[in-house]
This record gives sequence, structure tokens and C-alpha cells, in this order.
Amino acid sequence: MGRYVISGGKKLKGALRVNGSKNAALPILAATVLNGSINVLENCPKISDTKTALDILRHIGCETESEDKVLIINSSNISKTEIPEELVKKMRSSIIFMGPMLARFKKVTLYYPGGCELGKRPIDLHISAFRKMGAEIEEENGKIECFCEKLRGCDIELDFPSVGATQNIILAAVLAEGTTIIKNGAKEPEIADLCRFLIKCGAEIEGIGTSEIKITGVKNLKAATHKIIPDRIEAGTYLIMTAAAGGKITLENVNPIHISPLIDVLSKMGCKIKKYTSSITLKSTGHLINIPFVQTLPYPGIPTDIQPQLTALSSVARGLCRFEETIFESRTAHIPELIKMGADIELNGNCEFTVKGVRRLRGSEVFARDLRGGAALITAGLCADGITVVDNSSHVERGYEDIVEKLSEIGADITLKI
Ligand code: EPZ
Repeated sequence: MGRYVISGGKKLKGALRVNGSKNAALPILAATVLNGSINVLENCPKISDTKTALDILRHIGCETESEDKVLIINSSNISKTEIPEELVKKMRSSIIFMGPMLARFKKVTLYYPGGCELGKRPIDLHISAFRKMGAEIEEENGKIECFCEKLRGCDIELDFPSVGATQNIILAAVLAEGTTIIKNGAKEPEIADLCRFLIKCGAEIEGIGTSEIKITGVKNLKAATHKIIPDRIEAGTYLIMTAAAGGKITLENVNPIHISPLIDVLSKMGCKIKKYTSSITLKSTGHLINIPFVQTLPYPGIPTDIQPQLTALSSVARGLCRFEETIFESRTAHIPELIKMGADIELNGNCEFTVKGVRRLRGSEVFARDLRGGAALITAGLCADGITVVDNSSHVERGYEDIVEKLSEIGADITLKI
């Protein structure tokens, strides 16, 4: 567990290349289980969550190779269908292995997943969908044992457009018997990227990018090579950091369409933003104005994974901003830490809070409680007076490749102390 030490007040200036998307790479890594072949994934982020996914793949018998941002996964010799608790506990996305393992091996044993503490984070939508497709699932003391004679395609209407449940059902349905139609499915770009990988493997999927996805099961799938889409949350994080610290940044290898709601918010707050096909430039004085209301929503709304970082930015913008977090029932662990730094934030329950901007935050010792909360505290440290120490760097390392090197490259004074 390292700690980031940041000396605030430095303006940011320069260009950064955005990495491949964590939340696209993780389900696609799980999908390599399906075809029993050699898969080549390009533009993969080198972060601890992808390392955990590779550990899981190796544990069940895959051979893996990594050459910089290219991962090669050979899933032809999988010999185990149990994923050990210590691996599953490392990240929420471990649950995404259920679908492909059930689809190919008709059985899997794993455990209730770990990951960021953002409320209960149940997996009932995953479990009920697999049961409807014909799986027998027993849950006891956190252990989940699943098996099926065969998976049958069916219509599944999700109570909530869950990203993980949508991905898991797709991963099961591609080899199921018959057709599966997901209604009220999530539409995040990472799901579309998973579908594009699966279609390259020979899957039959229609409705990509919409909330109704139709999957027609096939007998088997073949090897594929795929380039992971850019990480829209990493891109949004660096835009927010520059907006807060002041300066000018150009992000390369980004799809502006994927973060257009955030771009709208930052423009309204006073940033000057130019969008190009695969890059974005943002200029900020560092003295911005709050917009009155920010509500997180499923894609294409403002992503929940940007809310903590936006809270930090709002803390140093003039005026009031009311936030409503509608995706997770408690994504506010960053707020007490921001208040330690002098932020003026009033919590109204677990999902709503009001920020009143202050002139400057004070450098302090604060604790990252989760991945995006850690990014929010770094954002605050970049624009605070004095030195900020953000503890628990391992949370941030799960989702941001080389964040110290990247921020240092554009003028931040940040180091990682182990
Ligand atoms: C994915 O998590 C992302 N993680 C999260 O990013 C992201 O915040 C989230 O989607 C929402 O966009 C990955 O892709 C690895 P959900 P996931 O299922 O799939 C409830 C980050 O910072 N729910 O869409 O777990 C759940 O409790 C991470 O990169 C059920 O009730 O999110 C939550 O309130 C954090 N039952 C809501 O749905 C279920 O069976 C959204 O969860 C499943 C979910």
C-alpha cells in the first residue's frame, strides 16, 4: 500500500495518450475462455485488475503472454472450473467469468466477488438470468456453485440496466441453444466492444449499442484478434484534473462521443474544449463556476465512475452544485476525505449531496477508499495549497496505468512513496 505525495498548485500542460479501457478489457479477457484458441488483445491497459484477470485465466489452465500492451491468451488447455476465493475477491469483475465458464464447460465454482465498496453490489440479476437459461446455482457462505446440462436461450428483461449482468448474459448466450433476447440491457460502450470481439469469434449478436440485444447461440467460436477501445473514464479523469488544476491538456486515443455528457458539464463550468475524431483539447483557468445539478445515469448519461472526480472539481468551483448518485447506493466515501481538505459538502443521505465551492482546498493526509475516490483525492491534491498525501495507492493502481508518470509528464508535482 503506497501513498501519493502531491504538492498542489501546479498548472498542467501537455499531451497524454489514453490507455485501453479497463471495463472493456476485463469482460473481453473473460470471453477468451469461450473459443479454446489463441486470442490476441491489443491496447490492453497494464493495471492490477487486468493482472488479476490474467491470474484467473492462468489458474484455470490458459497460457498467457504479454508484450507491452498486447496480451495473448491461449484457452485451449483449460483444466479447472473452480476459481479460488483469493482471486475472485480482488475485483468485482471476477463474476464475469461465470457466463463463459458455464457456456463452455457447463459448470463453474467461484465466490462472491470483491471490488470497490459502493454499497451491497448484489449479483441477483446475474444469478436469476443463468437460472432462467437452465443453470442450477447453489450459493452457500459466499461460495457459488453452478452447473447445467445445457444453456438454453430465452428472453431476459433486466430490472436495472446492469453492465455486468448484461455482459455475463451475453457471454453465456453466445454458445447457448437457441436465441436470447436481453431487454433493458446496459448500453455502455464497453458492452459494444465485447460484442465486437465476440462477433470476430463467430458469435451472432444484433442490437449492439441498444438496450435490446439479440444473441443467437452457435456451436463453437474461433480465435480472434481485437483492439480494446480507449478508456473513457481515464480520459474523463485527466480532463477533470486539468480543469481543477488549470492549464491545457490534449488527450490522444480517445473517443469524444463516449464522454460527451462530461464534456458538456466541463464546458458549462467554463472550460474551453475542442473535440476531434480521436483527441480532445481542454483549457482551464482553474477558476470555474458550478452548474446547479449533476445526476449520474446509465450510459449515455454522466457516468457514475466520474462522479467522485467531479465532486472534487466542484469543491473548488464557484457556487453550489447538487449531486445525485443514481447508480450505486453509497458512492460517497470520498466526501469525508474531501471535507478534511476544507471542502464544503453537505451529505443528504447516501445518494445526494450539495457542494459549495471554496476558494482553495488545504493539503492534508487523506485515504482512498476505492478506485475512483482515490482519483478524486488526487484531483483535489493537484489544486490544493501545500502537500497532500493520498494513502492506499493500490485502489488507484487497479484502474490507472502509470498515473504518476502521466501527471508528472504534464507538470504535476506527484510522487509515489511505498
Ligand atoms: C460496472 O460495474 C463497472 N465495472 C463499474 O466501474 C461501473 O461503475 C458500473 O458498471 C456502472 O457503470 C466494470 O465494468 C468492471 P452494475 P458493475 O451491475 O457491472 C446493481 C470502476 O470504477 N446491481 O451496472 O458491477 C448494483 O448494485 C467500476 O471502474 C444489482 O442490484 O455495475 C448497482 O447499484 C466501479 N444486481 C447497479 O446495479 C445485480 O445483479 C449498477 O451495477 C447487478 C447489479
